[in-house]
Amino acid sequence: MSSPEQWKAVDQYVVDLLLPPDAALQAALDDSTAAGLPSINVSPPQGKMLQLLARACGAKRILEIGTLGGYSTIWLARALKPGGHLITLEIDLHHAEIARRNLARAGMADRVEVRVGRAADLLDAMQGFVDPFDFIFIDADKASSDVYFKAIMALSHPGTVVIVDNVVRDGKVADAKSEDEDIKGIRRMTEWLATQPTISATAIQTVGGKSYDGFLMAIIGT
Ligand code: SAH
Ligand code: DHB
Ligand code: MG
Repeated sequence: MSSPEQWKAVDQYVVDLLLPPDAALQAALDDSTAAGLPSINVSPPQGKMLQLLARACGAKRILEIGTLGGYSTIWLARALKPGGHLITLEIDLHHAEIARRNLARAGMADRVEVRVGRAADLLDAMQGFVDPFDFIFIDADKASSDVYFKAIMALSHPGTVVIVDNVVRDGKVADAKSEDEDIKGIRRMTEWLATQPTISATAIQTVGGKSYDGFLMAIIGT
């Protein structure tokens, strides 16, 4: 059996070899901690994976739901093609302010817009007013996962890549009787996806420095 210590050691091995030290990313984490933000950002290997996926689809327009201190935002913004734009949604003004500072230090302020409000409201307000996104990362309150996935359909085009974080939660997603609102939201989203013939999706379980969780990946079709 593997152990959390082993997961951590493997993450460290990957970081040491494949993720060169990066002052802006480290400062974003340090300042987020100093400002009292919870350490619920994606891990460094996960951040880089998001970046590589966004690069692989040649993303010029990226949407993120759930900014926190902007750690995943920096990884994703750096994937943008020249002239590209990223919009990230955050309910907590304090989180947004820390994120804006972290993004500015990373040199990303000119291509990232942090919008503050309830994601469901901000997504509704965008419909019809923005060009579709090429890559979307959903990582806010898990109880609303289904609401967010349905809302982004009007902000997507055929080929849009969607990643949803935290879809496994220590394996609890497999418990149909769970009363946990987060689990119920993730299950509603996954069950809705199963009814959508134009969306192709899968989910992958992950372990790492932090926990046992997982990503869902989907591609929007025609
Ligand atoms: N993507 C970040 C982590 C996001 S943590 C990273 O990996 O670095 C989840 C964030 O979603 C928190 O900052 C929280 O304040 C925000 N959030 C929670 N509920 C929300 C809502 N209803 N609308 C918008 N943001 C929300
Ligand atoms: C937690 C982890 C996350 O990645 C997230 O986006 C929100 C919460 C958590 O472990 O509580
Ligand atoms: Mg997350």
